[in-house]
Amino acid sequence: MERVVSGIRPTGKLHIGNYFGAVANFLKMQYEYDCFFFIADIHSLTTHPTPADLHQNVKHVLAEYIAAGLDIDKCTLFVQSDVPEISELYTYMNMNAYLGELERSASFKEKIRMNPDNVNAGLLTYPVLMAVDILVHRAHKVPVGKDQEQHIEMTRQFGNRFNRLYNVDFFPEPQAFSYSNALVKVPGLTGSGKMSKSGGEADAIFLSDDESINTKKIMRAKTDEGPKTQNQKKPTEVQNLFDLMQLVCKPDVIDTFNSDYNACAIRYGDLKKQLAYDMEIFLKPIRERFIDTLKNENLLANAAKIGAEKARASASRTLKEVREIIGIRKFY
Ligand code: TYM
Repeated sequence: MERVVSGIRPTGKLHIGNYFGAVANFLKMQYEYDCFFFIADIHSLTTHPTPADLHQNVKHVLAEYIAAGLDIDKCTLFVQSDVPEISELYTYMNMNAYLGELERSASFKEKIRMNPDNVNAGLLTYPVLMAVDILVHRAHKVPVGKDQEQHIEMTRQFGNRFNRLYNVDFFPEPQAFSYSNALVKVPGLTGSGKMSKSGGEADAIFLSDDESINTKKIMRAKTDEGPKTQNQKKPTEVQNLFDLMQLVCKPDVIDTFNSDYNACAIRYGDLKKQLAYDMEIFLKPIRERFIDTLKNENLLANAAKIGAEKARASASRTLKEVREIIGIRKFY
């Protein structure tokens, strides 16, 4: 069976960009592939969270994964730092990752632009660690949003380079995956681009937030003064709201608002109310399960323990072969 790997950094609450870009695919893939889904806690250390925040955030994402519908009997759900083989393979793979290619990565450039005072080595080699997450399970498919595409390309590069260097056919070439036609990019509410945690509180709709908070954010989302001529192109911030509707509203509802827009009869207040209403229908069951799951310490501990065991079994098989391939062989 083909193997699948994907992860999310625990930097706070999951937003609907994480859900529709990644988790929605996980939910279906867990029944069709051999899946490894994880919480990328080592990755999140690049931004120096406090120990208490880090632990709390990992727990939060674990509960959100389960609340969204990940079934620990169907997939392997684990915490990255529970698998020391990942750190070992990261050390080996770093020897064949070059400064030039790491500096050219779009996400590295973006991160040093945003945080010029924290350009650490972990940030530079972030794509190596991400590649290792995927290669350590010798995965074929990686369900991610559009923003991760370049990292998957780099993963192929590192895996192929290893195969070439040691003249083996060891790592498969992983492909970014989505059940939709293209990789997903969920827009934020502030009109500035993709929904993201770093875009500020107002930009993102979080899975676990109350209805009142989400509704308020949607009602305050940026729009323009309304169309002036029939069938005119929508400005980005308005198109963003229509894109968000695509995620949770019924097609005939979207058609009606589209027709109103094209006839210059749209009322953005009504559109936002509809979006907030349908968003709540979608989010309510996830939030309710999340609240219960977060309280259930036994369930979370058990899930993490079972996941760690399954992920380590897979990763240690890979590491055993990697050590042999690169010549790290025991004398005893
Ligand atoms: P992260 O934690 O930023 O995001 C987790 C997942 O959510 C997707 N995503 C989005 N999709 C669509 N629209 C958006 N606005 C949006 N925002 C986030 C991301 O594409 C991602 O799939 N480097 C990764 C985590 C990671 C990983 C891996 C992923 C570490 N190792 C191995 C896959 C395989 C990251 O920072 O994602």
